[in-house]
Amino acid sequence: MFLRVKIAASILSADFARLAEGVKQAESAGVDMLHIDVMDAHFVPNMTIGPPVVKCIRKETRLPLEAHLMVDNPEWFINEMAKAGVDIITIHVESTRRPLSLIRRIRELGVKPGVSLNPATEVGKIVRLLDSVSIVLVMTVNPGFGAQRFMPETLPKITAVRRSLFSKGLSNVDVAVDGGVNVDTAPLAVKAGATILVAGSAIYGSNNVAKAVKGLRKSVEGVRWEP
Ligand code: DX5
Ligand code: ZN
Repeated sequence: MFLRVKIAASILSADFARLAEGVKQAESAGVDMLHIDVMDAHFVPNMTIGPPVVKCIRKETRLPLEAHLMVDNPEWFINEMAKAGVDIITIHVESTRRPLSLIRRIRELGVKPGVSLNPATEVGKIVRLLDSVSIVLVMTVNPGFGAQRFMPETLPKITAVRRSLFSKGLSNVDVAVDGGVNVDTAPLAVKAGATILVAGSAIYGSNNVAKAVKGLRKSVEGVRWEP
C-alpha cells in the first residue's frame, strides 16, 4: 500500500545560535514539517529548549511545527506550547499516568496530539490511544540525544502500530520514526509502515541541507508498506 511519506527536520541538530537560519534551510529544502525536541533533564538526561524559543521559531516559518515533549509532567507545557503556536504536541506515554486526558486537552486547544513510545515500551501500552491521536512517534533510539544509531529491533513495533491502525480503519494517522533516520534506515522504516521520517543529523550534519533532504526522499521512492 502506498502511504505518502513526509520529512520532518529535527532542529536539535541545527546550530542553536543560528536557529532561524536552520529553519530557513529546512524550509527551502522542502521539508514537510519541523520537529522540535523539548528535553527537561529529568525524563531524559539532556536539556534543550522550551516555549519561549518555540515562539521565536514560530515567527520564522509557516511550516507545521511539532513539539516532541521529552519531559516529566508534560501537563505543565501543553498550554504554553499551544500558545507558542505549535501544530502538533507529542507526549511520551511513559511520562504520564493520564495520557488520554492529556491527549484530549491537546485536541481541545486546537492542536493535533501525538503519542510517543521509547524503544523499551511495548506497543500494547498505546493501543487504546490510537483512535485519539494524529501521530504515533516510534522512537528508534533511546531519547535524549541526536546522532545515535537506529535500533533495528524497533522495526517490528512500527509494523505493529501500522497494522493496528489499519485494522481500526485509522490509516490517516501518521506513524513517525525518530532517531538514526538516514538514507539507509529510512527505507526500512517506510517498508515497516512509517509515514513521517524525523531526521536531525542526516539533515543538519550534512554540508548541504537541500541535498540531504532530496537524498532522504529518493531513498524511500517506490518503497511501500504491505499490509
Ligand atoms: C532524540 C530526538 C530526535 C533527534 C534525532 O531524542 O528525539 O528527534 O533529534 O536526531 P538524529 O536524526 O540525529 O538521530
Ligand atoms: Zn524527537
